Amino acid sequence: MNQGLESLQPYPFEKLSRLFAELPRAAGKTIPLTIGEPQHAPPGAVMQILADRAYLVGKYPSTNGLATLRAAIARWLERRFGLQAVDENRQVLPVNGTREGLFALAQMVVSGGRPGAVICPNPFYQIYEGAALLAGTEPTFVNCHETTGFLPDFASITREQWQTCQLLYLCTPGNPSGAVMPNPMLQELIALAQEHDFVIASDECYSEIYPDESTPPPGLLQAAAAMGNTAFRHCLCFHSLSKRSNLPGLRSGFVAGDDQWIDAFRHYRTYHGCAMPLHHQAASEWAWSDEHHVIANRIYYREKFSAVEPIISQVLETPTPEAGFYLWPKTPIDEEEFARVLMHKMGVSVLPGSYLTRHTPQGNPGARRVRLALVAELADCVEAAQRIAHCLREGW
Ligand SMILES: Cc1ncc(COP(=O)(O)O)c(C=O)c1O
Repeated sequence: MNQGLESLQPYPFEKLSRLFAELPRAAGKTIPLTIGEPQHAPPGAVMQILADRAYLVGKYPSTNGLATLRAAIARWLERRFGLQAVDENRQVLPVNGTREGLFALAQMVVSGGRPGAVICPNPFYQIYEGAALLAGTEPTFVNCHETTGFLPDFASITREQWQTCQLLYLCTPGNPSGAVMPNPMLQELIALAQEHDFVIASDECYSEIYPDESTPPPGLLQAAAAMGNTAFRHCLCFHSLSKRSNLPGLRSGFVAGDDQWIDAFRHYRTYHGCAMPLHHQAASEWAWSDEHHVIANRIYYREKFSAVEPIISQVLETPTPEAGFYLWPKTPIDEEEFARVLMHKMGVSVLPGSYLTRHTPQGNPGARRVRLALVAELADCVEAAQRIAHCLREGW
């Protein structure tokens, strides 16, 4: 058996159901602020295309995806990040949700099984860690502390560690803090990738949820192009329709960038067997070509943030996220205990920060923090915030 399997940790939501298992239920409706699954309605056009093209289940899809889908993605990348010419035939591949693509990438990139072949942020999307372990390496964690603006503290990585690195995961905007990596930081990492010959996988699945319409978060390919790396060497970005278009069940995203790595990944994926169903590709093509539904989505998130943040920040120290749909407040007591009390007394479920982190010699950036996902409808988000505020005012 693959030894990495034994090192896999339970998923954060398994830990959460254990934490809440024995708790007597609070009276009334439970409001979950735990899972980052958008609850806004999916676009009607997507539902229509899926229904109209359902007959395509009678055909095998190809790993490479439809040329029309890849073209829609390439044009979106050009518009969104001001890129000159993205080659849809060589620089773009569809993935069945970024989770699948981010995981599979490590299986292709990592070789040799040396510890530290993967570097990833801490807190992290747990797939980065699992992908590293199953690819036969121990990940090196880079803490995202308040003192570094919740961005990874790359100054803590030594030259030797960069030298060992084969794959660097980034998450920008970050889950859970919403911290956005600025272009200069991305460019320093690209220079390190060039020097030490590793690949950067930039998970940008929250890039389309941001507060100010005039300042969308930058991305890895944009940073690469701005430093003259127009072939995006060493750079791969991952984007998803799950958050942007409220389509988590469509399992649709893409990877784009360095054509040498895209070509190798295409080859790998032929065997991995993860081609996207054709009617999902048709629906995705529409979703990457339309911005109206995405703008409407952002407006709704803004409404929720402006209603919820003032309530929460009266009782908890809460940094304002630069993007994404999470709040990442500090807790007055241990984060697991905090989550238990809120669930028990108030029927509000929140995710303890330490379920998204690992302890490191430099500390645990998830300690005394919880993640609140503002994915429910506005009224439920406000109700949950009021219950949290009430609980804190009453004292523990
Ligand atoms: C940081 C991060 N990356 C990737 C994903 C996976 O998204 P999907 O597989 O739906 O594209 C998630 C989902 O919550 C996430 O939080």
